[in-house]
Amino acid sequence: MRTQVAIIGGGPSGLLLSQLLHRAGIDTVVLERKTKDYVLSRIRAGVLETGMVAQLRAAGVGARLDRDGIVHDGTVISYEDSEIRIDFTRHTDSHVTVYGQTEVTRDLYAAREAMDGRLVFNADGVTIHDADSDAPWLTYMQGDTEHRLDCDYIAGCDGFHGVSRQTIPQTVRNEYEKVYPFGWLGILSETPPVHDELIYASSDAGFALCSMRNANLSRYYIQCGMDDHPDNWSDDAFWEALKRRIPDAHAQALITGPSIEKSIAPLRSFVCEPMCWGRLFLCGDAAHIVPPTGAKGLNTAASDVHYLSQALIGHYAGNGDEGIAQYSQTALARVWKAERFSWWMTSLLHQFPGQTTFDMRMQQAEVAFLSDNAHAQAVLAQNYVGLPY
Ligand code: APR
Ligand code: PHB
Repeated sequence: MRTQVAIIGGGPSGLLLSQLLHRAGIDTVVLERKTKDYVLSRIRAGVLETGMVAQLRAAGVGARLDRDGIVHDGTVISYEDSEIRIDFTRHTDSHVTVYGQTEVTRDLYAAREAMDGRLVFNADGVTIHDADSDAPWLTYMQGDTEHRLDCDYIAGCDGFHGVSRQTIPQTVRNEYEKVYPFGWLGILSETPPVHDELIYASSDAGFALCSMRNANLSRYYIQCGMDDHPDNWSDDAFWEALKRRIPDAHAQALITGPSIEKSIAPLRSFVCEPMCWGRLFLCGDAAHIVPPTGAKGLNTAASDVHYLSQALIGHYAGNGDEGIAQYSQTALARVWKAERFSWWMTSLLHQFPGQTTFDMRMQQAEVAFLSDNAHAQAVLAQNYVGLPY
């Protein structure tokens, strides 16, 4: 089998890249090691920057998003009982759209299938060959049969645990990592959201986040220990912990209900440099990870895909290879700004084990400055709605 661009990974990065390239007349094959149902079963955040919304519309998958997505013109940062509304409209010409990542992936699969996209599921043991040559190729297993895929370029969209990053020689790769000493215990409940915007809450009892999927599906998180387990938390215990961490007015208004999903996510910052090797290019979680506090994971994958799709479209249009040559540098410039914002939000809002009383006073002073200073609020707003591509 042969294609122009081989894409490893059928998550948001791989699917969006495939769809954008196909609409530009470039052939792709997506190799996904799981099944489509498994990919769609993942519960993931969905706070979309306007840049990502523009990409999805350009990919021809904006219809359901435009119908069901919820536009947010601000978000709330709280500390104990005090709260600050960060007004996106006042500080930027932009906003965010709440639309679950699972729905984004569902829309992309539907679009790929409508264009008879070549999506290979249960592609096991994907192996990259000759990525640093002019004729790269892949092998993979389906059942007992080995397949070969020859291509011009390879996009590694296979997430943090994929094969692509590992294919870049260790002598070439530089990895930067920070593992946070806590996790997020999250639940989904079929209850109306406690507020019409997200609430990022800091308190002496720990961090909490009040989010949503739609008018009757809420997503809540509380900071928990790295070694905690969802089975340690009854629904009642979760709700009580959440109420202690959010402003009292919201705690009183909170409508609780049975959890329909309960899980713990670790928090990590990670970047691999460079994001390319020969004709292999990394996109999304394959190259970088952010703690979810800034809602930058999906959105930074989208900006990688923007840069790489534009570079490849330019190449095949005969407009030169400047975009390809500059891809890693261009993508990393924005990646690091997303990493900084995500690290800053996480450092500001969480209780760190072993932190000193001085550290706590620094957090409180940072929140007080944010509360008092419109410029500080503008900086948060500009980062949250998304820095320019
Ligand atoms: N071969 C083929 N497919 C693979 C391999 C492999 N060796 N390893 C992983 N995959 C697949 C996974 O099954 C998954 O479907 O690659 C896909 C990677 O998808 P994501 O992990 O979602 O990463 P990405 O597409 O970059 O999306 C980034 O999604 O996971 C969230 O927090 C993340 O919001 C961010 C966004
Ligand atoms: C979510 O709704 O799951 C969500 C929203 C915002 C975040 C993280 C997660 O920063």
